[in-house]
Amino acid sequence: MRFAGSHVLSISQFDRAAVEQLFSVADAMRPFAHREQMTRVLDGAILGSMFFEPSTRTRISFGSAFNLLGGEVRETTGFEHSAIAKGESLYDTARVLSGYSDIIVMRHPEDGSVAEFAAASRVPVINGGDGANEHPSQALLDLYTIRLELAGRSRGLDGLRIAMVGDLRYGRTVHSLSKLLSLFTGLQISLVSPEALRMPAEVVDELRSAGHQVLETEALEAGIADVDIVYSTRIQEERFASREEADIYRGRFRLNQSVYTANCEPNTVIMHPLPRDSREGARELDVDLNDNPNLAIFRQSDNGVVIRMALFALILDVADQVEKHSGPVNWFTERRF
Ligand code: NCD
Repeated sequence: MRFAGSHVLSISQFDRAAVEQLFSVADAMRPFAHREQMTRVLDGAILGSMFFEPSTRTRISFGSAFNLLGGEVRETTGFEHSAIAKGESLYDTARVLSGYSDIIVMRHPEDGSVAEFAAASRVPVINGGDGANEHPSQALLDLYTIRLELAGRSRGLDGLRIAMVGDLRYGRTVHSLSKLLSLFTGLQISLVSPEALRMPAEVVDELRSAGHQVLETEALEAGIADVDIVYSTRIQEERFASREEADIYRGRFRLNQSVYTANCEPNTVIMHPLPRDSREGARELDVDLNDNPNLAIFRQSDNGVVIRMALFALILDVADQVEKHSGPVNWFTERRF
């Protein structure tokens, strides 16, 4: 895979060499993300950020990543603030926006919409999530997190044992993560979901064709035993016909400290793309896990910044110039935990 000038629309574009290259650039971004150093390598560059669906982490971390590289962000959020609300097509929006930006990140509720937009864009486009389809940058930061969490436990990505739990039908993060895991060997994957929210058959087929052992189950306790990683997900309420329909499944699989202690191996890493649904009837990942050192969810969201910095640096072809444009930071922010 060649990063320079490319769109990032699907995780299927990545091979292992590209993943390794991205991770090593992400490692080099850590001092900048941690504000130990600053760089102006993207001075003058503009990121067009278009989020037509709710987003906190993805939108802000893409924007922060661009700012940390010295670039500016121009942003539109929600259809109501965009000319799409006046009937403008994705084609026209892409032609216009790409005249104002050096690179674009976009999230949209329809599957395939970001690819359609990219086909009309004159600059690279990164998929920040298209409907229930894909979320490639999330899969990359998830895998980067898994690798970091497992380092020091003498476990690697090959031979990984992982449980994905929750809404596997509409959850785009688990679709992209599964496709990415297909690049590795000898995985044991348990897919825990209600029957109606199973992982799409083509994603399961891809995992099996890659030689991985896949168990599909509705039993949380069995699914999360004997794994290195539990990856919990939210019921994707916005993809259901009604809130009531989503309520049927919400709260079905709850991981809390007592379920963890009773079923998981000690030190099983707990992940979630966030947001976790903390409302009464949901709580797929209980707040009583907050003091569990194996809860990696905030390390995972932090990793979004370095991964997105690395994507920008590689796509805009400045990865080898970051250091040259770097200097000390003038401010101090005490980070408490
Ligand atoms: C996810 C998404 O938007 O797909 N969130 C994220 O980007 N971290 C998961 C979700 O919304 O449940």
